[in-house]
Amino acid sequence: MYPTNIYVKRREQLRKKIKSGVLLFLGNSDAPMNYKDNIYPFRQDSTFLYYFGINHPDFTAVIDIDENKEIIFANDLSVDDIVWTGPQKSTCQLAKRAGLKNSAPINKLIPVIKKAIAGNRMIHYLPQYRSENKISLSKLLEINPSAINNYASHELTTTVISQRSIKSKEEVADIEKAINVSYEMYTTAMKIVKPGMYEREIAGFVEGIVLSAGGRLSFPTILSVHGETLHNHYHTNKMKSGDIFVMDSGAEVSNGYASDITRTIPVNGKFSNMQKDIYEIVLDAQVSSIKAIKPGVKYKTVHLKAAKIITQGLKDLGLVKGNVSDAVANGAHAMFFPHGLGHMMGLDVHDMENLGEQFVGYSKDDIRSEQFGLAYLRLARELKSGFVLTVEPGIYFIPALIDKWRKEKINSRFINFEKVNKYRQFGGVRIEDDILVTNNGYRILGKPIPKTIKDVEAYCSK
Ligand code: GLY
Ligand code: MN
Repeated sequence: MYPTNIYVKRREQLRKKIKSGVLLFLGNSDAPMNYKDNIYPFRQDSTFLYYFGINHPDFTAVIDIDENKEIIFANDLSVDDIVWTGPQKSTCQLAKRAGLKNSAPINKLIPVIKKAIAGNRMIHYLPQYRSENKISLSKLLEINPSAINNYASHELTTTVISQRSIKSKEEVADIEKAINVSYEMYTTAMKIVKPGMYEREIAGFVEGIVLSAGGRLSFPTILSVHGETLHNHYHTNKMKSGDIFVMDSGAEVSNGYASDITRTIPVNGKFSNMQKDIYEIVLDAQVSSIKAIKPGVKYKTVHLKAAKIITQGLKDLGLVKGNVSDAVANGAHAMFFPHGLGHMMGLDVHDMENLGEQFVGYSKDDIRSEQFGLAYLRLARELKSGFVLTVEPGIYFIPALIDKWRKEKINSRFINFEKVNKYRQFGGVRIEDDILVTNNGYRILGKPIPKTIKDVEAYCSK
């Protein structure tokens, strides 16, 4: 946890922005894996962590704007609980640590909310993503659980998003701690990989690094020689000499902040010429996109810049033909680069996605494209100093997509399908770093993780 005054200030800032009503924040509960007592590792709700820092299950908080009152609700552990879990600070102690004067057992929450409802007061809550919390809210507010998100507070949601979007110094420091664990994960993967290993061996090793650093994965590791499958969580392939593998992974080590890094690594330590050609295009797109980052620039513009670099590079190799700008305007690049350039990052690896991607990544004036590829862009809006985001272009050869486009003649005036067919077995290349938008530009966060061909090959040979 951060020092108490940080949470106090965060809540003060929030209270100033919401005119009136009762703000209701639900923390998360333990989630059973296969029976009640066999649980997934506990993950607190990120907004709850942000405003209260309490990293225990079954806590709820209320901020009454009009009465200027803040209360934490949770039951203290009984001795029977302590026998199994060990001692835990009391609710009162945890509330104090977060800078709140008031705490109460959870059954006191119902009368507080009922009184507010009876007084016709606005109850602000955030959109919910866990069924247990939808059910709890449903009971409290007498709304059908399936309709809970229809009544979530737009005012609270957008206020929380604008506050959490701007990262403070201590948040950036925590993100960098997570990236520094990623550094260990990637340099280790580069050093240990060799032909004949299974993907899962590397995945197990790198996950062990996060666990031994006292953290956990910020999302399930993507690691495969089938890098063309964008979110490939299966690690069953035996890795051969000549293969490259995409490793997209993240750590969450300190106060819940995440890292999200991708590298593409040759299994035998050396890229082939064909792999080098594609890798250099992706690297150019990544480095040029990072250099374009500064406050006031729209991330959609940076995404399209990356798309143009990729398209030009593929044209130079003979895979794409025609005018590059026209090809990008028509979405031809998306057969090779079907995802967005990046997303916001912080307490969540896709930061605040639970609050609504359109509010996090798009302003009122940015209409989300329906074009294949561009439609997946999570962050399009104008960048502000203090944002932390990922830059992660890629080139992939996805046989099912290639076959569909060829058969349906999609963008056939821009794509040389004969040449593309020679890359059917290629897989994919993605390169990702985490970037802070500064007052006049950008900073690549964390210890630099090898990414040029020369550096990656040098680490592989260590
Ligand atoms: N790192 C996976 C993703 O950004 O979707
Ligand atoms: Mn990412």
